[in-house]
Amino acid sequence: MRLFFALWPDDGVRAQLAHWARELHAACGGRLTRPENLHVTLAFLGSVEDAGVAEVERAASEVAPRAATLVLDRPGYWKHNRIAWAGASVVPPETRAMVAELRGALARSQIGFDLKGFVSHVTLLRDAREPKAMPALEPIRWKVDGFALVRSLTLPRGSRYEVLKAWRA
Ligand code: 2AM
Repeated sequence: MRLFFALWPDDGVRAQLAHWARELHAACGGRLTRPENLHVTLAFLGSVEDAGVAEVERAASEVAPRAATLVLDRPGYWKHNRIAWAGASVVPPETRAMVAELRGALARSQIGFDLKGFVSHVTLLRDAREPKAMPALEPIRWKVDGFALVRSLTLPRGSRYEVLKAWRA
C-alpha cells in the first residue's frame, strides 16, 4: 500500500483550508484537493508491503508526538509542478524536531522514504495557473497535536487518503 506520514487537520482547520482553496481557485484555476484529503506531508514512503506496515508503525512509535501551533499565513505557487498551496512562514521548533525524529527513526529502521527536504505546505490546487496576484487570506492557526500514518487509495474518482494510525501528544 502507498503510505505517508502527515499532519492531519481537524474539521475546523480543514474548513478554513477549503476556504483558502476556493479563494485561490478564483485566482489560478486548477483542480481542488478534496477537502477530506487536505494535509501536510511529513515523509512520503510510497509503496510498502502489507507485512512491512507493523515495522513502519513500530518506528513511528519511537517518535515523541509534539503539540505546537502551526500558523498557515502564506499562500504560494510552484511553477515547476503547477501546485498552489498554503504554507507557514515559520515552522514551530517542536514540529521541526518531530519531523527530524520521524525521518531519523525511519532511516534507522531502513524504511525507505522520499529524501527531499521537508517543506511545510498543504497542496490546495493542482494543474493551476500562476496567479497574477495572491488573494489576501486570513491566517489559519492550526493546533497540531501529533502526526498520522496515512494510506493513499487510488479510486476511479481520484486519490482518497485514510488515516491508519495517529500518535498524539
Ligand atoms: P504534496 O505533499 O505536495 O501534496 C500523497 O501522495 C502525498 O505525499 C501528497 O500530499 C504528495 O504531494 C506527497 N508526496 C511527497 N513526496 C511525494 C512523492 N515522491 N510522490 C508522491 N507524493 C509525494
